[in-house]
Amino acid sequence: MRERILIVGSGAREHAIAVALTRSPQHPEVLCFGAIRNAGIAPLCVSYGAGSVTDLPSISRFAAEQRATLAIIGPEAPLAAGLADALWALGVPVVGPRRHLARIESSKSFTRELLRKYGIAGNPFFRRFDSMEGVEETLRTLPESHVIKDDGLAGGKGVKVWGDHLHSLEDSLAYCRELIDEEHAFVIEEKMEGEEFSLLSFCDGRTLRHMPPAQDHKRAYEGDKGPNTGGMGTYTDADGKLPFLAQADIDAAQRMNEQVAAALVSECGVSYQGVLYGGFMATKDGVRLIEYNARFGDPEALNVLTLLETDLVSICRGLVEGTLYETDVRFTRKASVCKYMVSEGYPDAPQQGGIVQLPDQLPDQTTMYLGGLVEQDHRMIVSGTRVVGFVSTGNSIAEAEASCEQATLTVSGPLFHRKDIGTASAITRRVAHMQRLRSV
Ligand code: AMP
Ligand code: GLY
Repeated sequence: MRERILIVGSGAREHAIAVALTRSPQHPEVLCFGAIRNAGIAPLCVSYGAGSVTDLPSISRFAAEQRATLAIIGPEAPLAAGLADALWALGVPVVGPRRHLARIESSKSFTRELLRKYGIAGNPFFRRFDSMEGVEETLRTLPESHVIKDDGLAGGKGVKVWGDHLHSLEDSLAYCRELIDEEHAFVIEEKMEGEEFSLLSFCDGRTLRHMPPAQDHKRAYEGDKGPNTGGMGTYTDADGKLPFLAQADIDAAQRMNEQVAAALVSECGVSYQGVLYGGFMATKDGVRLIEYNARFGDPEALNVLTLLETDLVSICRGLVEGTLYETDVRFTRKASVCKYMVSEGYPDAPQQGGIVQLPDQLPDQTTMYLGGLVEQDHRMIVSGTRVVGFVSTGNSIAEAEASCEQATLTVSGPLFHRKDIGTASAITRRVAHMQRLRSV
């Protein structure tokens, strides 16, 4: 029977998922349900539903009417809302964890406590609070070196870091009070120093297949300046490592994902079936955990799905049937660089409604994924924040970066991007940072 695969979500990450599905020799029919009618995804679909990705009844109805045989959930909000549970209940197998397993992303304290309970190394000092009791005392034990995190999902806006957003004990106390006033629990943790990287693994609960590690760029502007964003771009290296990491760092991150998957089965009594995304920091003391996400990273997915050689449909079947051990997951041994072109004003005041001219032709080894872009009257209109993502591959990061930068020049419209992602000078700086930390 031909698969009918429902993708939930309508950004460039979901476009990359759709493109990977259409490469499958099984020729699945693709369905999408998302907030906007993404101009890249829509032409690949046999049916498209528009609506909120947390509207569980509407998505369930769409899946049933469209006779979906499998669903892949892109963003975190529907996972946290229990969409996987709702679709499984209808008989639609889901790539993406059920609600109580998705707490690995939707609750910062759940994750920290899981690591502690199962003896998994990688936590910094942390403590959870749901009142101001003990807050000042804890902050004083971590002077000038703490991070305060909203315990729940906050779309990347709930984390405040000493030195970036917090500059005095008063600032920190004020943020804690603000969270308590909003009745949000929070976590205070030790600030770690190092280089961040993402390691995503396909996970059926028992077997994990790791993807190449990637480095995201969260800050809006070049030189890692400006406000935090969902991620401006990412790179991976041809050898499946990253220039500032040792093989031991990658081994440690892979091991942590494996231990966490096993701990989740013990803790929740059900298998985690989906993508387990570890956000790590390489520090002078080894690899530590920043956070887990319960889904493909965005933009990481754009890189890794471009590099994926194995049929994504077979991988998804392995994930939902618990037979991933049968599938050998392979990636092209090339470097990749992804740059997002985002709407002007992003992330604080992103402009909407501008017209974008897309290229007729792309540089070699370059793929274009569309995000917040819809087609109206034969024109491409900005309808989101991260608008166009380019991924170029090459024999080196430098080669991929050159093509990717070239690709950005082929687009016109009210967009900007970070030119420094994947450049030799940016990478040299990260390698030097890591060497400096590890030499003391
Ligand atoms: P998160 O939402 O947990 O990924 O946090 C957002 C960003 O805050 C991360 O990408 C890090 O740059 C930073 N961050 C979070 N936790 C820590 C920590 N314990 N030490 C240093 N930086 C952190
Ligand atoms: N790369 C950041 C995220 O997907 O949350």
